[in-house]
Amino acid sequence: MDKLIIKGGNRLSGTIPISGAKNAALTLIPCALLTEEAVTLRNLPRLADIDGFQHLMGQFGVSHTIPGKRPEEFGRNVTLEAMRITSSVAPYDLVRKMRASILVLGPLLARTGEATVSLPGGCAIGNRPIDLHLKALEAFGAEIELAQGYVRASAPDGGLPGGSFDFPVVSVGATENALMAAVLANGTSRLTNAAREPEIVDLCKLLTAMGAQIEGIGSSDLTIHGTRKLHGATYRVMPDRIEAGSYACAAAITGGEVRLEGADADDMASTIDALRQIGVGVEADRNGMTIAANGKLKAQDLTTAPFPGLATDMQAQLMSLLCLAEGTSVLTETIFENRFMHVPELARMGADIETSGRTAVVRGVDGLTGAEVMATDLRASMSLVIAGLAARGETTVRRLYHLDRGYERLEEKLQLVGADIERVGDD
Ligand code: UD1
Repeated sequence: MDKLIIKGGNRLSGTIPISGAKNAALTLIPCALLTEEAVTLRNLPRLADIDGFQHLMGQFGVSHTIPGKRPEEFGRNVTLEAMRITSSVAPYDLVRKMRASILVLGPLLARTGEATVSLPGGCAIGNRPIDLHLKALEAFGAEIELAQGYVRASAPDGGLPGGSFDFPVVSVGATENALMAAVLANGTSRLTNAAREPEIVDLCKLLTAMGAQIEGIGSSDLTIHGTRKLHGATYRVMPDRIEAGSYACAAAITGGEVRLEGADADDMASTIDALRQIGVGVEADRNGMTIAANGKLKAQDLTTAPFPGLATDMQAQLMSLLCLAEGTSVLTETIFENRFMHVPELARMGADIETSGRTAVVRGVDGLTGAEVMATDLRASMSLVIAGLAARGETTVRRLYHLDRGYERLEEKLQLVGADIERVGDD
C-alpha cells in the first residue's frame, strides 16, 4: 500500500486549484436516477468515492460517458443517463465501501416506486444511523421494511403522495434523500429544520435545472411541489469548501502565502472566521481567496455545528493548526462522537492535547516532530498531512486510501506550492 513521505519545514507559496466538491458530487450523481434524460455533471473531482458511486449507478442500468476526457487536467465532466432502471437493488458489497450509497434510496424510490438498499454498516467516525432518512420517506408515504441487513422502501400504487417532516436533528444526508424523493411525489412536501449546507443548495439548484419546484432554497424550511417528470440538465459542481479549508490550514501552518483558485468564500464564512481569529490573513475575491500567514498563531476556542456553523469536516485540520498556536484552545465536536482519532497520532508528533468526551483541550507547543502516523478517516488523515508540513524531520502517513477518497491529487497540489511530499509504494 502507498504511503506519503513529507519532509516538513517548507513555507508554502503559490497557487492551488480547488476541485469540485466531493460531498456535492455524491448527491448530484444520484439525481440522474430521477429522469430518463441525460444529466451532465461538470467539474466532478477525480476521487475513489466518485468512481465507486458511478459503479453503483451502473448497477441500476445508468450509463456513464466521459465527454472530452483530458487526463492532464483536474476534474472531469461525466454524462449519466438512466433511460431505463434495470434494478433497484444496491447490494452490500458496493454499499459497505461507501456510506453515501444510501443517497440512492430516495431517488430510486421516487422513480420506480421501490428501492432496496443494504444498510451501510459501521463507520469510523461514530455510529451513523439512517433512521432520519427512513422517517422522512415514511412521512412522504413510503412503506419501509428492514430485513437481512437491507432496507426496502416502497411507494403506494401511483407513487409517493408527499408529506411533511420536521427533522429532530439536522442531517445533511437525510435532507438530501428526502429532497430527491419529494421532487417526483404527487403532492407538495415540506421539510423543516432541514440541513442548509452549501451542498444542499447545490443539490436544489441541479434539481431546479431539471424542472423541480423547490421553495426556500438556502433555508432550513423547504417546500417541494412534486412534478410528474423531470428532464435532463448540465450542471457544474460547486467548489470543495472543505478541500479549500484544508489547504488554507496547510498554508497557515507553514507561515506561507497561498492562493486557492476557484474557492468560494461565501460558502466558507465560519472557516474564514476561525482562521482570522487564529491570526491568519484571508483575502477573498470573485475567483478564489488568498491565505497569508506570518508564522504567529493564536489559540482559539472552536465548536462545530451544522451550517452556517463551523463544519465538523474542518475540525481535525484546524486542530493541527492550533497545536502550534500560542496559548490553550478548546475544540468541541457537536456533530459526531468519536471524531478525535487524529489526537493520539498528533500526540506522537509532539502535540499536547487532552480529550474528554466531545471536547479537546489543545495546549500550543513550540514545534512538532515528524513521525510514522496513520488515521482512520479522511479529515483526520488530512490533519496529519498538515501537521507533517510543519514538523521537524520526516513524517510518513499510511493508509492513503482515506485521502484518495476525498482529496484529488493531494501530493501534486501540495508540490505545486513547494511542499516536500511524495507518494511511495510500501515495501
Ligand atoms: C455529511 C457529509 C459529512 C459531514 C456531515 C456533517 C457527505 C457524503 N458527508 O454526512 O462529510 O461530516 O454531513 O456535516 O455529504 N443522524 C442521525 N440519523 C440519521 C442521520 C444522521 O441521528 O438518519 C445524525 C448523525 O449521527 C450525526 C448527525 O445526525 O450525529 C449529522 O449527520 P449527517 O448530517 O446526516 O451526516 P452525513 O449526511 O452522514
